[in-house]
Amino acid sequence: MSHPEQIIPHGHILRYNLRERLTHWVAAASYMYLLATGLAFWSPWLFWMAVILGGAPVSRILHPWAGLIFFASVWMMYVMWAPQMKHTDADRKWWAAVRYYSTNQDDKMPPAGRYNAGQKFLFWGFFWSAVALLASGVVLWFPEYIPWNLRFLRYLSILIHPAAALFTIGLFMIHLYMGIFAERGAFGSVIRGDVSIAFAKRYHPGWYDEIVGESSSPRK
Ligand code: HEM
Repeated sequence: MSHPEQIIPHGHILRYNLRERLTHWVAAASYMYLLATGLAFWSPWLFWMAVILGGAPVSRILHPWAGLIFFASVWMMYVMWAPQMKHTDADRKWWAAVRYYSTNQDDKMPPAGRYNAGQKFLFWGFFWSAVALLASGVVLWFPEYIPWNLRFLRYLSILIHPAAALFTIGLFMIHLYMGIFAERGAFGSVIRGDVSIAFAKRYHPGWYDEIVGESSSPRK
């Protein structure tokens, strides 16, 4: 299927429209605030971050609200991207060949579509972590409304909230490394919206073919 409106001048292709980019940066900004304040609550060694961000009481009041903003932006990502994040047979082949990906031998990788299997894993990891963080976070926000006979929910939330947060920290570090350093040109796509044709062909040949409607196009 061809989308000529997505081909923009100077050998570049639109990867993220404005709505996608804004949603991504609301998620990123709220996540980094949650990360800094959450780590400050977690360990006295990291408490200085809450001090820098306006003090402990301010951080404690704003953290849950930032959590709602983060969840809303992740939900928006779900609405925009979930259909494209479904696992396919191509993704199974991609995982089987992941050693070539991690050694930059992209020509040996099965062709990825708009998102490769690793990006899909990150998306679902963030989505389900955000659901777990919201559910456990609401319990921690209003513990007095949890009936005494359901108090196990409070204990569970104390475990789930940091566990889910630590999982997202792992995802986040890989995401930063991939987005800023490993795949040159990816960062521009969440700022300006476009990527070069060379980037599209190298990292997402299936997506490139779909956009230009040339299923037999050369890969490089
Ligand atoms: C400073 C923080 C962040 C930076 C620098 C960053 C960078 C990027 C880049 C460069 C891309 C484009 C990758 C591509 O299409 O090739 C991207 C996509 C994406 N980002 Fe982020 N991001 C950040 C924070 C976050 C956070 C907190 C989330 C959590 C919801 C997130 C979720 C995603 C998702 C789901 C995508 C699309 C799939 C993917 O490329 O992995 N990002 N980001």
